[in-house]
Amino acid sequence: MQYRTLGRTGLNVSLVSYGSGGPSKLGQNTGLSPTEQDRLIQRCLDLGINFFDTSEAYGDSEVILGRTLSRVTEDSYVLATKCRYKNGDGSLRSPGDVERSVEASLRRLNTDCVDIMQIHVLNSNDYFDVVDQHYPVLKRLQEQGKIRFIGFSEHFMGEGDHKSAVLALKTHPELWDTIMLKYGILNLYAAKEALPLALEHNVGIINMAAVRVKLPQPDLLREQISRWKQEGIVAQDSLPDEDPLGWLVHDDVDSVIDAAYKFAADHPAISTVLTGTSSVRHLEDNVKALEKPTLPEADKRRIREIFGEIAVYI
Ligand SMILES: NC(=O)c1ccc[n+]([C@@H]2O[C@H](COP(=O)([O-])OP(=O)(O)OC[C@H]3O[C@@H](n4cnc5c(N)ncnc54)[C@H](OP(=O)(O)O)[C@@H]3O)[C@@H](O)[C@H]2O)c1
Repeated sequence: MQYRTLGRTGLNVSLVSYGSGGPSKLGQNTGLSPTEQDRLIQRCLDLGINFFDTSEAYGDSEVILGRTLSRVTEDSYVLATKCRYKNGDGSLRSPGDVERSVEASLRRLNTDCVDIMQIHVLNSNDYFDVVDQHYPVLKRLQEQGKIRFIGFSEHFMGEGDHKSAVLALKTHPELWDTIMLKYGILNLYAAKEALPLALEHNVGIINMAAVRVKLPQPDLLREQISRWKQEGIVAQDSLPDEDPLGWLVHDDVDSVIDAAYKFAADHPAISTVLTGTSSVRHLEDNVKALEKPTLPEADKRRIREIFGEIAVYI
Protein backbone atom coordinates (compact mmCIF):
# COMPACT_ATOMS: atom_id res chain seq x y z
CA MET A 1 0.00 0.00 0.00
CA GLN A 2 1.21 3.48 -0.81
CA TYR A 3 0.62 6.36 1.60
CA ARG A 4 0.29 10.07 0.89
CA THR A 5 0.04 13.17 3.07
CA LEU A 6 -3.48 14.57 3.30
CA GLY A 7 -2.69 18.21 2.60
CA ARG A 8 -2.14 20.46 5.60
CA THR A 9 -3.58 17.91 8.04
CA GLY A 10 -0.22 16.16 7.79
CA LEU A 11 -2.04 12.86 8.20
CA ASN A 12 -0.39 9.95 6.43
CA VAL A 13 -3.26 8.22 4.63
CA SER A 14 -3.41 5.09 2.54
CA LEU A 15 -3.86 5.69 -1.18
CA VAL A 16 -6.84 3.34 -1.11
CA SER A 17 -9.37 4.38 1.49
CA TYR A 18 -12.67 2.82 2.40
CA GLY A 19 -16.01 4.59 1.82
CA SER A 20 -19.00 3.29 3.74
CA GLY A 21 -21.63 5.09 1.64
CA GLY A 22 -22.41 4.82 -2.07
CA PRO A 23 -24.59 2.08 -3.54
CA SER A 24 -23.19 -0.65 -1.25
CA LYS A 25 -23.14 1.24 2.10
CA LEU A 26 -20.71 -1.12 3.77
CA GLY A 27 -22.82 -4.08 2.65
CA GLN A 28 -26.04 -2.74 4.17
CA ASN A 29 -27.51 -2.67 0.64
CA THR A 30 -25.93 -5.89 -0.57
CA GLY A 31 -26.97 -8.25 2.21
CA LEU A 32 -23.76 -8.54 4.24
CA SER A 33 -24.23 -9.89 7.76
CA PRO A 34 -22.58 -8.04 10.69
CA THR A 35 -19.86 -10.71 10.73
CA GLU A 36 -19.20 -10.16 7.01
CA GLN A 37 -19.12 -6.38 7.52
CA ASP A 38 -16.55 -6.83 10.30
CA ARG A 39 -14.52 -9.14 8.05
CA LEU A 40 -14.56 -6.60 5.23
CA ILE A 41 -13.25 -3.83 7.49
CA GLN A 42 -10.68 -6.20 9.01
CA ARG A 43 -9.54 -7.04 5.46
CA CYS A 44 -9.16 -3.31 4.76
CA LEU A 45 -6.89 -3.00 7.81
CA ASP A 46 -4.91 -6.12 6.84
CA LEU A 47 -4.34 -4.64 3.37
CA GLY A 48 -2.95 -1.43 4.89
CA ILE A 49 -6.02 0.81 4.49
CA ASN A 50 -5.99 3.35 7.30
CA PHE A 51 -8.58 5.89 6.13
CA PHE A 52 -12.33 5.33 6.56
CA ASP A 53 -15.09 7.67 5.45
CA THR A 54 -18.66 7.68 6.65
CA SER A 55 -21.59 10.03 7.31
CA GLU A 56 -24.62 10.39 9.49
CA ALA A 57 -26.50 9.84 6.20
CA TYR A 58 -25.17 6.34 5.43
CA GLY A 59 -27.67 4.21 7.33
CA ASP A 60 -25.86 2.39 10.16
CA SER A 61 -22.37 2.83 8.70
CA GLU A 62 -21.14 4.97 11.60
CA VAL A 63 -22.28 2.33 14.10
CA ILE A 64 -20.71 -0.49 12.09
CA LEU A 65 -17.39 1.32 11.76
CA GLY A 66 -17.50 2.30 15.45
CA ARG A 67 -18.00 -1.35 16.37
CA THR A 68 -15.33 -2.79 14.07
CA LEU A 69 -12.67 -0.15 14.57
CA SER A 70 -12.96 -0.29 18.37
CA ARG A 71 -10.95 -3.55 18.09
CA VAL A 72 -7.84 -1.65 16.97
CA THR A 73 -6.10 1.34 18.52
CA GLU A 74 -7.41 4.76 17.50
CA ASP A 75 -4.02 5.94 16.29
CA SER A 76 -3.89 3.15 13.69
CA TYR A 77 -6.54 4.73 11.45
CA VAL A 78 -8.00 8.04 10.32
CA LEU A 79 -11.76 8.43 10.56
CA ALA A 80 -13.79 10.96 8.61
CA THR A 81 -17.51 11.54 8.90
CA LYS A 82 -20.00 14.13 7.70
CA CYS A 83 -22.91 16.21 8.92
CA ARG A 84 -25.74 17.58 6.84
CA TYR A 85 -26.43 21.31 6.87
CA LYS A 86 -29.91 21.04 5.39
CA ASN A 87 -33.17 19.58 6.59
CA GLY A 88 -35.14 17.15 4.44
CA ASP A 89 -37.30 20.01 3.13
CA GLY A 90 -34.24 21.91 1.84
CA SER A 91 -34.22 24.56 4.59
CA LEU A 92 -30.97 25.21 6.46
CA ARG A 93 -30.44 23.30 9.67
CA SER A 94 -30.03 25.41 12.78
CA PRO A 95 -26.51 25.64 14.24
CA GLY A 96 -27.83 23.84 17.34
CA ASP A 97 -29.04 20.93 15.20
CA VAL A 98 -25.64 20.65 13.53
CA GLU A 99 -23.95 20.57 16.93
CA ARG A 100 -26.33 17.85 18.18
CA SER A 101 -25.76 15.92 14.96
CA VAL A 102 -21.97 15.95 15.42
CA GLU A 103 -22.33 14.83 19.05
CA ALA A 104 -24.59 11.98 17.90
CA SER A 105 -22.03 10.93 15.26
CA LEU A 106 -19.32 10.77 17.94
CA ARG A 107 -21.54 8.51 20.05
CA ARG A 108 -22.29 6.22 17.10
CA LEU A 109 -18.61 6.11 16.17
CA ASN A 110 -17.77 5.22 19.74
CA THR A 111 -15.17 7.97 20.05
CA ASP A 112 -14.58 11.29 21.84
CA CYS A 113 -12.88 12.88 18.84
CA VAL A 114 -13.23 12.35 15.10
CA ASP A 115 -10.28 13.09 12.81
CA ILE A 116 -12.22 14.87 10.06
CA MET A 117 -15.72 16.34 10.18
CA GLN A 118 -17.05 17.30 6.78
CA ILE A 119 -20.08 19.34 5.78
CA HIS A 120 -21.97 16.85 3.62
CA VAL A 121 -22.80 17.76 0.00
CA LEU A 122 -22.07 21.49 0.12
CA ASN A 123 -23.79 23.33 -2.71
CA SER A 124 -22.20 26.58 -3.89
CA ASN A 125 -25.51 28.47 -3.50
CA ASP A 126 -25.40 27.77 0.23
CA TYR A 127 -21.67 28.31 0.66
CA PHE A 128 -21.73 31.68 2.44
CA ASP A 129 -24.63 30.67 4.71
CA VAL A 130 -22.70 27.58 5.76
CA VAL A 131 -19.55 29.60 6.43
CA ASP A 132 -21.56 32.10 8.53
CA GLN A 133 -23.84 29.70 10.41
CA HIS A 134 -22.46 26.14 10.50
CA TYR A 135 -18.71 26.46 10.17
CA PRO A 136 -18.45 28.28 13.56
CA VAL A 137 -20.15 25.28 15.22
CA LEU A 138 -17.51 22.94 13.84
CA LYS A 139 -14.76 25.37 14.85
CA ARG A 140 -16.07 25.45 18.42
CA LEU A 141 -16.22 21.66 18.55
CA GLN A 142 -12.67 21.58 17.23
CA GLU A 143 -11.58 23.90 20.05
CA GLN A 144 -13.28 21.52 22.50
CA GLY A 145 -11.16 18.66 21.12
CA LYS A 146 -14.03 16.78 19.48
CA ILE A 147 -12.92 17.34 15.86
CA ARG A 148 -9.35 17.45 14.59
CA PHE A 149 -9.87 18.80 11.06
CA ILE A 150 -12.71 20.41 9.11
CA GLY A 151 -13.68 19.79 5.51
CA PHE A 152 -16.62 19.40 3.16
CA SER A 153 -17.79 17.15 0.38
CA GLU A 154 -19.34 18.10 -2.93
CA HIS A 155 -22.46 16.51 -4.37
CA PHE A 156 -21.28 13.61 -6.52
CA MET A 157 -24.09 14.13 -9.05
CA GLY A 158 -24.21 17.90 -8.53
CA GLU A 159 -22.07 20.72 -9.83
CA GLY A 160 -19.72 19.12 -12.33
CA ASP A 161 -17.70 22.30 -12.65
CA HIS A 162 -16.83 22.05 -8.92
CA LYS A 163 -18.32 25.45 -8.07
CA SER A 164 -18.24 24.86 -4.31
CA ALA A 165 -14.65 23.63 -4.23
CA VAL A 166 -13.44 26.49 -6.42
CA LEU A 167 -15.43 29.07 -4.43
CA ALA A 168 -14.09 27.74 -1.13
CA LEU A 169 -10.52 27.58 -2.38
CA LYS A 170 -10.69 31.10 -3.81
CA THR A 171 -12.48 32.80 -0.92
CA HIS A 172 -11.48 30.97 2.27
CA PRO A 173 -8.74 28.41 1.62
CA GLU A 174 -7.65 28.79 5.25
CA LEU A 175 -10.97 27.41 6.56
CA TRP A 176 -10.89 24.01 4.88
CA ASP A 177 -8.40 21.28 5.71
CA THR A 178 -9.91 18.79 3.25
CA ILE A 179 -12.31 18.67 0.31
CA MET A 180 -13.97 15.51 -1.01
CA LEU A 181 -14.75 15.59 -4.72
CA LYS A 182 -14.99 13.28 -7.69
CA TYR A 183 -12.15 13.04 -10.20
CA GLY A 184 -11.94 10.21 -12.67
CA ILE A 185 -11.88 9.09 -16.28
CA LEU A 186 -15.33 10.50 -17.05
CA ASN A 187 -15.04 13.36 -14.52
CA LEU A 188 -11.88 15.23 -15.33
CA TYR A 189 -13.02 18.76 -14.83
CA ALA A 190 -11.52 19.16 -11.36
CA ALA A 191 -8.08 19.16 -13.00
CA LYS A 192 -8.85 22.57 -14.55
CA GLU A 193 -9.09 24.70 -11.43
CA ALA A 194 -10.12 22.88 -8.24
CA LEU A 195 -7.15 20.50 -8.01
CA PRO A 196 -4.46 23.09 -8.85
CA LEU A 197 -6.00 25.47 -6.24
CA ALA A 198 -6.03 22.67 -3.66
CA LEU A 199 -2.35 22.02 -4.32
CA GLU A 200 -1.55 25.73 -4.08
CA HIS A 201 -3.28 25.98 -0.67
CA ASN A 202 -2.25 22.55 0.58
CA VAL A 203 -5.86 21.43 1.07
CA GLY A 204 -6.15 17.63 1.20
CA ILE A 205 -8.25 16.08 -1.57
CA ILE A 206 -10.21 12.91 -0.95
CA ASN A 207 -11.41 11.39 -4.23
CA MET A 208 -14.93 10.00 -3.95
CA ALA A 209 -16.97 7.72 -6.20
CA ALA A 210 -14.17 7.50 -8.74
CA VAL A 211 -15.71 4.42 -10.33
CA ARG A 212 -19.41 4.72 -9.63
CA VAL A 213 -21.84 4.79 -11.40
CA LYS A 214 -21.11 4.05 -15.04
CA LEU A 215 -17.70 2.41 -14.98
CA PRO A 216 -18.55 -0.86 -13.19
CA GLN A 217 -21.60 -1.36 -15.45
CA PRO A 218 -20.76 -1.96 -19.14
CA ASP A 219 -24.34 -1.29 -20.34
CA LEU A 220 -24.53 2.07 -18.57
CA LEU A 221 -21.09 3.02 -19.84
CA ARG A 222 -22.01 2.15 -23.45
CA GLU A 223 -25.25 4.15 -23.17
CA GLN A 224 -23.46 7.17 -21.68
CA ILE A 225 -20.81 7.27 -24.41
CA SER A 226 -23.44 6.82 -27.09
CA ARG A 227 -25.47 9.71 -25.60
CA TRP A 228 -22.40 11.93 -25.53
CA LYS A 229 -21.70 11.05 -29.18
CA GLN A 230 -25.29 11.95 -30.16
CA GLU A 231 -25.01 15.25 -28.28
CA GLY A 232 -21.67 16.04 -29.96
CA ILE A 233 -19.88 16.10 -26.59
CA VAL A 234 -17.65 13.20 -27.61
CA ALA A 235 -16.44 12.88 -31.23
CA GLN A 236 -18.14 10.06 -33.16
CA ASP A 237 -14.90 8.40 -34.22
CA SER A 238 -13.07 8.86 -30.89
CA LEU A 239 -14.27 5.62 -29.30
CA PRO A 240 -15.78 2.33 -30.46
CA ASP A 241 -19.52 1.85 -29.75
CA GLU A 242 -18.96 -1.54 -28.14
CA ASP A 243 -16.70 -1.69 -25.10
CA PRO A 244 -15.75 2.00 -25.54
CA LEU A 245 -12.98 1.95 -22.92
CA GLY A 246 -11.70 -1.57 -23.62
CA TRP A 247 -8.51 -0.11 -25.13
CA LEU A 248 -7.39 0.80 -21.60
CA VAL A 249 -7.11 -2.88 -20.70
CA HIS A 250 -3.60 -4.05 -21.54
CA ASP A 251 -0.32 -4.96 -19.82
CA ASP A 252 -0.85 -4.59 -16.04
CA VAL A 253 -4.36 -3.10 -16.39
CA ASP A 254 -6.77 -5.99 -15.91
CA SER A 255 -10.11 -4.22 -16.39
CA VAL A 256 -11.78 -0.88 -17.05
CA ILE A 257 -12.40 -0.64 -13.28
CA ASP A 258 -8.67 -1.15 -12.66
CA ALA A 259 -7.91 1.63 -15.13
CA ALA A 260 -10.46 3.89 -13.43
CA TYR A 261 -8.95 3.53 -9.95
CA LYS A 262 -5.42 4.01 -11.32
CA PHE A 263 -6.45 7.16 -13.17
CA ALA A 264 -8.27 8.47 -10.09
CA ALA A 265 -5.03 8.44 -8.09
CA ASP A 266 -2.83 9.82 -10.84
CA HIS A 267 -2.95 13.50 -9.91
CA PRO A 268 -0.60 15.14 -7.40
CA ALA A 269 -3.45 16.89 -5.55
CA ILE A 270 -5.18 13.60 -4.72
CA SER A 271 -4.16 12.08 -1.42
CA THR A 272 -6.51 9.13 -1.29
CA VAL A 273 -9.08 7.35 -3.46
CA LEU A 274 -12.15 5.96 -1.74
CA THR A 275 -13.50 2.61 -2.74
CA GLY A 276 -17.06 1.84 -1.71
CA THR A 277 -17.07 -1.87 -2.37
CA SER A 278 -18.90 -4.42 -0.23
CA SER A 279 -16.97 -7.35 -1.70
CA VAL A 280 -13.66 -8.61 -0.29
CA ARG A 281 -12.66 -9.78 -3.78
CA HIS A 282 -13.36 -6.37 -5.32
CA LEU A 283 -11.51 -4.72 -2.44
CA GLU A 284 -8.44 -6.86 -3.09
CA ASP A 285 -8.65 -6.11 -6.84
CA ASN A 286 -8.92 -2.38 -6.18
CA VAL A 287 -5.98 -2.39 -3.79
CA LYS A 288 -3.95 -4.33 -6.35
CA ALA A 289 -4.88 -1.79 -9.06
CA LEU A 290 -3.52 1.02 -6.90
CA GLU A 291 -0.22 -0.69 -6.16
CA LYS A 292 0.82 1.06 -9.40
CA PRO A 293 -1.35 4.17 -9.48
CA THR A 294 -0.73 5.35 -13.01
CA LEU A 295 -1.64 4.58 -16.61
CA PRO A 296 0.57 4.79 -19.71
CA GLU A 297 1.10 8.41 -20.85
CA ALA A 298 -0.51 7.76 -24.26
CA ASP A 299 -3.68 6.39 -22.61
CA LYS A 300 -3.89 9.33 -20.21
CA ARG A 301 -3.46 11.76 -23.11
CA ARG A 302 -6.25 10.06 -25.05
CA ILE A 303 -8.56 10.18 -21.98
CA ARG A 304 -7.87 13.90 -21.55
CA GLU A 305 -8.43 14.63 -25.27
CA ILE A 306 -11.77 12.84 -25.29
CA PHE A 307 -13.26 13.72 -21.89
CA GLY A 308 -11.22 16.70 -20.65
CA GLU A 309 -13.81 19.42 -21.31
CA ILE A 310 -16.85 17.60 -19.91
CA ALA A 311 -18.20 19.35 -16.82
CA VAL A 312 -21.02 17.10 -15.68
CA TYR A 313 -20.91 14.78 -12.74
CA ILE A 314 -22.04 11.32 -13.87
N1 LIG B 1 -21.12 13.73 -1.48
C1 LIG B 1 -20.49 12.86 -0.74
O1 LIG B 1 -20.19 13.14 0.39
C2 LIG B 1 -20.14 11.52 -1.32
C3 LIG B 1 -20.70 11.13 -2.54
C4 LIG B 1 -20.31 9.91 -3.04
C5 LIG B 1 -19.40 9.13 -2.36
N2 LIG B 1 -18.89 9.54 -1.17
C6 LIG B 1 -17.94 8.71 -0.41
O2 LIG B 1 -17.09 8.10 -1.35
C7 LIG B 1 -17.15 6.68 -1.15
C8 LIG B 1 -16.83 5.99 -2.44
O3 LIG B 1 -17.87 6.19 -3.39
P1 LIG B 1 -18.65 4.93 -3.93
O4 LIG B 1 -19.16 4.14 -2.78
O5 LIG B 1 -19.57 5.37 -4.97
O6 LIG B 1 -17.40 4.10 -4.47
P2 LIG B 1 -16.88 3.49 -5.83
O7 LIG B 1 -15.80 2.59 -5.37
O8 LIG B 1 -16.58 4.53 -6.85
O9 LIG B 1 -18.13 2.66 -6.39
C9 LIG B 1 -18.71 1.66 -5.63
C10 LIG B 1 -19.51 0.81 -6.58
O10 LIG B 1 -18.62 0.16 -7.48
C11 LIG B 1 -18.67 -1.25 -7.30
N3 LIG B 1 -17.30 -1.76 -7.37
C12 LIG B 1 -16.23 -1.34 -6.65
N4 LIG B 1 -15.13 -2.04 -6.98
C13 LIG B 1 -15.52 -2.94 -7.92
C14 LIG B 1 -14.82 -3.95 -8.65
N5 LIG B 1 -13.53 -4.18 -8.50
N6 LIG B 1 -15.55 -4.70 -9.54
C15 LIG B 1 -16.88 -4.46 -9.73
N7 LIG B 1 -17.57 -3.52 -9.07
C16 LIG B 1 -16.90 -2.76 -8.17
C17 LIG B 1 -19.31 -1.48 -5.94
O11 LIG B 1 -20.03 -2.70 -5.93
P3 LIG B 1 -19.58 -3.92 -4.95
O12 LIG B 1 -20.06 -3.57 -3.58
O13 LIG B 1 -20.28 -5.09 -5.57
O14 LIG B 1 -18.09 -4.04 -5.06
C18 LIG B 1 -20.25 -0.29 -5.84
O15 LIG B 1 -21.45 -0.53 -6.55
C19 LIG B 1 -18.55 6.46 -0.59
O16 LIG B 1 -18.67 5.19 -0.02
C20 LIG B 1 -18.62 7.60 0.38
O17 LIG B 1 -17.86 7.28 1.54
C21 LIG B 1 -19.24 10.74 -0.65
